Amino acid sequence: MTAQRVLVTGGASGMGAGAVQGFVAAGAHVVSCDITEDGGSAIATEATAQGPGEAHFVPCDVADAASVTAAFDRAAELLGGLDVLVHAAGIAPGSAAAEIDPEQWDRIFAVNARGTMLTNQAAHRLFAGAGGRIINFASGAGAHGYPGKAHYAATKGAVLAWTRSIAHEWGPEGITVNALAPAIATPMYAATRASMTAHQLAAHDASLGERMAVRGALGDVRQDLVPVLLFLASPGAGFVTGQLIAVDGGMLMVR
Ligand SMILES: NC(=O)c1ccc[n+]([C@@H]2O[C@H](COP(=O)([O-])OP(=O)(O)OC[C@H]3O[C@@H](n4cnc5c(N)ncnc54)[C@H](O)[C@@H]3O)[C@@H](O)[C@H]2O)c1
Repeated sequence: MTAQRVLVTGGASGMGAGAVQGFVAAGAHVVSCDITEDGGSAIATEATAQGPGEAHFVPCDVADAASVTAAFDRAAELLGGLDVLVHAAGIAPGSAAAEIDPEQWDRIFAVNARGTMLTNQAAHRLFAGAGGRIINFASGAGAHGYPGKAHYAATKGAVLAWTRSIAHEWGPEGITVNALAPAIATPMYAATRASMTAHQLAAHDASLGERMAVRGALGDVRQDLVPVLLFLASPGAGFVTGQLIAVDGGMLMVR
């Protein structure tokens, strides 16, 4: 890969952390942004020690416009511009649909949906007409729903519709915008599993076995996700845009 300037949100955990490590291992210069400062700094430091690229950590709350502007401006200073945004920051609280209150709804939309708009707009500004790549994290939930997390599913439907809209608007500027629907083992997934009863967990695992064409269990960040991110950021993916790319063992097949 040619040296790239990459900003990763959600870089303190899960797939964002894997993206920081994977891009640095591929020689990129990375700025990792997250609301969780200790974990984010540690991941960036570890990745830089491994090389051959390097990573810096810049704190950022993706739901807050001023925080996003400040963090992206600092990232552009550190990187000397921007080529790729990997926007992995997100939250996935659970709640029965009938019990979701307006504050919960607003908070998850602020982080997952408004955060996507704000970070994508900030990247678009930094691309400055020179083209770029945006990789957003949607979810299969945004396409087929998620009982017990209807507000989360609604935000991911918003991420998908936004992604497709800006792929059209910004395509003429040489910007590709794609969304992922991952099924990857991360702390977020561990928290979801931990919230299930033994009965729900057994049903969940049985359902994965039936719905997933390969493996029957969630994928690995480094082995299954990072290569897809590197491909979407590479010159060879310049004709791929507006897609929902499922990295999920075949759960979300178009039927
Ligand atoms: N794990 C899966 O299989 C799966 C499936 C579908 C979609 N996703 C989506 O993929 C993305 C990454 O998920 P993950 O499993 O790696 O989650 P994770 O919980 O391991 O990591 C999410 C990161 O986002 C950060 N974050 C949360 N709120 C933030 C904010 N306001 N500002 C900045 N950072 C913030 C957290 O601190 C954390 O480091 C999320 O958008 C998630 O919804 C994950």
